[in-house]
Amino acid sequence: MSIVVLGSANLDLVYRVQNIPGPGETVLAASRASHPGGKGNNQATAAVRAGAAASFIVSVGQDEAGAMLLDGLESDGVRVSARRVTEPTGTALITVADSGENSIVVDSGANSLLAELTETELGIIEEAGILLMQLEVPVETVGRAAAVAHAAGALVVLNAAPIRELEAELLAAVDLLIVNEHEAFRLLADTGLQATEATVAAELLLELVPAVIITLGAAGALVAERGKSVRTVPAFEVTAVDTTGAGDTFCGALVAALEAQREAGANDLELESAARFASAAAAISVQRAGAVPSIPGRQEIEDFLGHRQS
Ligand code: RIB
Ligand code: NA
Repeated sequence: MSIVVLGSANLDLVYRVQNIPGPGETVLAASRASHPGGKGNNQATAAVRAGAAASFIVSVGQDEAGAMLLDGLESDGVRVSARRVTEPTGTALITVADSGENSIVVDSGANSLLAELTETELGIIEEAGILLMQLEVPVETVGRAAAVAHAAGALVVLNAAPIRELEAELLAAVDLLIVNEHEAFRLLADTGLQATEATVAAELLLELVPAVIITLGAAGALVAERGKSVRTVPAFEVTAVDTTGAGDTFCGALVAALEAQREAGANDLELESAARFASAAAAISVQRAGAVPSIPGRQEIEDFLGHRQS
């Protein structure tokens, strides 16, 4: 039993700009860089760097970018189950402002071909202790994987990003939902519920899934579980250079912490302490450029936590 991540891998093309351009605006970039990224790739890498064993089910192109992404995963020690398809590897066009905020446009490419799970992929999912997914691959695949893992007794974790409309059937197989505030409000609106405040949103989302974490950036995260009051995990104060992949770092580190609790024999998983560990990992990542390049390792996360007894 270990962590299985199913999701996207992208080559990130990152342009540093003073301010993110608006419609009709042209701006000059201060620099351009390319890094491995993609929400699935970032989360699988974050889980492994945080000390867990993880498998990653992914689809990349038969191109240089695909080979580069797989090399990176391998050198991090992620167990990769990869499809090499004729579509080009996914890319993300990212602008990062001086404030550290970003805007991202994804061309899914090979990620969109991760459909109809193979026998091998289904076998990996059936063995999962925790299945972690996002929404950059076909949502039918996410639904199918969630159903299979749920039936096999795994903890199914869904980071509903980028947000889109979700079938009630998919949500019924999710044990833990991780969303930001915007995604939380969208999800609720899609189901006819309404919230304008994060704590209310967290409570309403518990009608759809048994546990929810709403990430609030610099304001920390809310942890909500059925039958318990909503708790706030404060964020660590740092200066953000690039927030790209911070949410992914949070998700990957979180499942690594949950897996460590399971391995230690815990019956009831403690979401709050896992979220604190994840929040430290994310706080480290925003102080560095790039998605995958900025993801910290376990020792660094523990040292960071040791220095900040907040
Ligand atoms: O969450 C950050 C990621 O979103 C980037 O790495 C980019 O590839 C997009 O998937
Ligand atoms: Na970063």
